[in-house]
Amino acid sequence: MNEDRNALSGSARERLIVALDVPSAAEALGIVDLLGEAVTAYKVGLQLFTAAGPDVVRELVQRDRSVFLDLKLHEIPHSVAAATRVAAELGVRLLTVHASGGERMLAAAVDAAADAPHLRILALTVVTSLTAADLQQLGIAASPREHSLRLARLARSAGCHGVVTSPREAAPLRSVLGAKALIVTPGVRPAGTSTDDQTRHATPAAAIRAGASHLVVGRPVTRVPQPDAAARAIIAEIAGALAS
Ligand code: C5P
Repeated sequence: MNEDRNALSGSARERLIVALDVPSAAEALGIVDLLGEAVTAYKVGLQLFTAAGPDVVRELVQRDRSVFLDLKLHEIPHSVAAATRVAAELGVRLLTVHASGGERMLAAAVDAAADAPHLRILALTVVTSLTAADLQQLGIAASPREHSLRLARLARSAGCHGVVTSPREAAPLRSVLGAKALIVTPGVRPAGTSTDDQTRHATPAAAIRAGASHLVVGRPVTRVPQPDAAARAIIAEIAGALAS
């Protein structure tokens, strides 16, 4: 994997990325206002980007927030490279591409990001909703875990800076990818909170101990009565796990 190129992987606070899975820029920026200085990094995914487009990304960057643009690109290398250059111009810090797009597509994204020292490319291996039976239907005999490891190796050889994976897969991926790779895990649930539809979840401390560099947390922060207290508790748990 490429070396760590910026400060996103620094303090406990910078390791929490709050997912803005909401249908409008107004709602997203309302959450950002509410969280204030507690949170420095946000994920913009398909829902918010489809609703609000690059303007909401520009607004977050303008507010000095790190943006993880989770568009899970999967296209011909030329198109992925073109979209990556636009993401770089927007000031995005992390961008996802599907590892199953193949080595040339992954390398095209990495090359397109080469002139943007702030931008890092994350490969998505196997989405959490896919089961072994789903993979079999696609002609893939491996289990989700085996397939995820194979795709992570492919991402590494293409020069990607890291992967997105479930916290349950973080430990084997850390040993495959080495100490410098970014390992970003959704599926994080503080003890005693609702699991919602997350099936392969872990606590913030467990995810960090398993080797995650960054945690993506949505509803446990954005859909609770006191989002800033929830975010601060997660950051404290991350700090505890980093220190232990
Ligand atoms: O569940 P939460 O609201 O914390 O979701 C954070 C992120 O986890 C989402 O933005 C989505 O990308 C991912 N997710 C997932 N599998 C699910 C639900 C959400 O990987 N079942």
